[in-house]
Amino acid sequence: MDLGIHGRTALVCASTSGLGYAVAAALTAEGVRVAITGRRADTVEQRASELSGAAGFVTDLTDLAAVAELVPRVEQALGGVDILVLNSGGPPHGTAETLSDEDFTAAIDTLARAQRQLVAAALPGMLARNWGRILAVGSSGVAEPLADLAASNVGRAALAAYLKTLSAEVASRGVTCNMLLPGRIDTDRVRLTDRARAEQTGSSPEEVAAASRSTIPAGRYGTPQEFGQAAAFLCSAAAGYITGIQLRVDGGRARSY
Ligand SMILES: NC(=O)c1ccc[n+]([C@@H]2O[C@H](COP(=O)([O-])OP(=O)(O)OC[C@H]3O[C@@H](n4cnc5c(N)ncnc54)[C@H](OP(=O)(O)O)[C@@H]3O)[C@@H](O)[C@H]2O)c1
Repeated sequence: MDLGIHGRTALVCASTSGLGYAVAAALTAEGVRVAITGRRADTVEQRASELSGAAGFVTDLTDLAAVAELVPRVEQALGGVDILVLNSGGPPHGTAETLSDEDFTAAIDTLARAQRQLVAAALPGMLARNWGRILAVGSSGVAEPLADLAASNVGRAALAAYLKTLSAEVASRGVTCNMLLPGRIDTDRVRLTDRARAEQTGSSPEEVAAASRSTIPAGRYGTPQEFGQAAAFLCSAAAGYITGIQLRVDGGRARSY
């Protein structure tokens, strides 16, 4: 299928590894010029050099002043931002009972406030061109809140509500807003999480991963490439009539409708 986005421009946040990098790779494979971002200059340059048509932009997404400058920087370098992929580092683990006021604020700042700033900066250009794709990397915790990830559940729910509301406001002007809900995709973060759980429980990382896989109807973790392909489709011209949705990429793990 021709996704119809050859020559478009994209800003993919937090894209030096894992899900963000997979999305960037899938978009460059479609001929999109992609801005790669991360916190470390050497990694950003390295990853951008691996993908044809990619350029690197060093940004710490927890620094809201730097976030405010990111879209203008990319627009100046690439000539616009047609596709905005909202992604970030994962928040810390913790329960709702122990979530402090500072934790709560940090979750909103890093998972919703920075994303709203990026959208606000990119949206005028999209509306002027009557074409735009806003896609957030969420989590299966948006559909079914995850135990011990209260910060993630709170921050991503705020972003989901914001994007769902926005999607109806801009749908008639060529801009779609959607969210992907990854379950367990085989990235560095998931491997680290499995190792940490193994240390806590005294089991091996392989045992933890096997127990986790047993909760997934597909019987395995997803690959970053599978996630990237789903993202590229939602960012495509072909998906122009799909907006306001949350698409699960979880091998059937979430059991609710
Ligand atoms: N993998 C899954 O199955 C899964 C499931 C549910 C939700 N998620 C969520 O999806 C997001 C990506 O997960 P992942 O598995 O791809 O993680 P990952 O492999 O650890 O990649 C995280 C990416 O975020 C960047 N990053 C981290 N903190 C940043 C910051 N403050 N500013 C800018 N960039 C930053 C990292 O780059 P640098 O370190 O170079 O800055 C890296 O490129 C996370 O929010 C995670 O919680 C993932």
